[in-house]
This record gives sequence, C-alpha cells and structure tokens, in this order.
Amino acid sequence: MGAVVWLFLFLQLCNFFAGFTVADEPNEEVKIEVVFLPEKCTQKSKKGDLMNAHYDGYLSNGTKFYCSRSEKDGHPKWFVLGVGQVIKGLDIGMKGMCPGEKRKLTIPPSLGFGKEGKADIVPPNATLIFEVELHHMSRGPRSMEAFREMDFDNSRSLTKDEIRKFLVMEDKKGGKVREDSFYDAVITDVFRKSDHNGDGEISAKEYNVYEHDEL
Ligand SMILES: *[C@@H]1O[C@H](CO)[C@@H](O)[C@H](O)[C@H]1NC(C)=O
Ligand SMILES: *[C@@H]1O[C@H](CO)[C@@H](O)[C@H](O)[C@H]1NC(C)=O
Repeated sequence: MGAVVWLFLFLQLCNFFAGFTVADEPNEEVKIEVVFLPEKCTQKSKKGDLMNAHYDGYLSNGTKFYCSRSEKDGHPKWFVLGVGQVIKGLDIGMKGMCPGEKRKLTIPPSLGFGKEGKADIVPPNATLIFEVELHHMSRGPRSMEAFREMDFDNSRSLTKDEIRKFLVMEDKKGGKVREDSFYDAVITDVFRKSDHNGDGEISAKEYNVYEHDEL
C-alpha cells in the first residue's frame, strides 16, 4: 500500500519522450517478444502501476538512439504505465510484464514518434525496437490514502522530511537499508516534478495530479 508513494516519480524518460505525436492508426500493433520470463511470474503490470525499468531504443537499422543505462547515473527509469508518460508503444508493450521479465518490442511509427520523428534522434516514420527489462513495479494510483499516510502531522501538505520518513519506514518494512544519497535524489526529483509553486511542500492538490484519470 505504502509503495504508491513511488508514483511521485516521473523521471527523465518522461522529459525525453515529451511532445511526441501519435497518429490514429489502430491497425498498427506493437510486436511483443518475450526474451526472458522469470520462473515466478505472478504479479503482472497493468495501467497505473509505477514501473522501474531499463530501456534500450534502436532504429530499424540497428542504431541505438536511447539507452537508460548510459543516461545520467544509469539508474533504471521510473514511470507510470498507461498514462502517456512514455510513448504509446511502450505503454502498450509493457503491459502484463512481471518483474525480471525482458521483452523486445517492435513499435510502429504511429505508436512511436510518428511522421515527425524526434529532433535529430529519431527520423520521420521510424519503426522503433526497444529492449526493455522490468526491474520493479508498485501498484496503484496516487491515492489520497497514501497521501494521508505520509502526512504525519495532518497538515494537508507533505514536507521533504515527511516523505523521507515514509520512504525509510517502507524500506525498513521491506528489510532494505539505503544510503541517504538515495533518498536525497528521490526527494529532489519528487519536488522538482510535484512542487509546482515551489513553496517547499507538496499540497494535496499538487500531489493528486491524476485525480481525474481513471488509473
Ligand atoms: C541508421 O539510420 C539513422 C537515421 O536515419 C542514421 O542516422 C544512421 O546513420 C543509420 N545507421 C546505419 C548504420 O546505417
Ligand atoms: C511518413 O508517412 C506519411 C504517411 O504514411 C507520409 O505521408 C509522409 O510523407 C512520410 N514522411 C516521410 C518523411 O517519409
């Protein structure tokens, strides 16, 4: 339940893929090849889950145009599945995955960067090949229950300390010990993406950006 806090995180991938256009060509499909399936595959990804994954993106001639491993610090990227934070082809092609699974996705231009392409990175009408690996996922939308769980002093806004306290608590429950720098990075990113008015707190309104989305 507490894991929904991860829904705060919208990392670089969203920026990278922002501004794409998608033509309506329902006859085009994402081709999904499962490259590796863990023996234990019970939890499967669905819309609204927070995904933590690595991606390598290739053009059809084999040129690699994106690699989450070489970007920034090489951490796997976080995004919410099925809400347009990544290109449509990834939203579709990463449904029903379990943690540890690897897939090769062949994405038609209409579900990728369309006729326009993407700046100097992806040419117009490009079919994209993605090698994806799902590391981790958490269930659920940004619920107000989760907000209240983090809002220790019931002030109806979240401070950095509250979020840190919550994350540490959750990790303790899961038997994880992490360095302070990990939490610093997470919290910095959370605030960069969610503290829209820059007052150093995340209000209920800023938190619940998806309240109108049927996640
Ligand atoms: C593959 O296509 C891209 C974009 O059209 C081009 O920039 C690149 O040089 C090509 N690579 C090869 C190996 O042909
Ligand atoms: C991309 O495809 C569209 C429709 O299939 C076509 O009209 C357009 O000319 C193509 N653009 C390029 C640059 O090939």
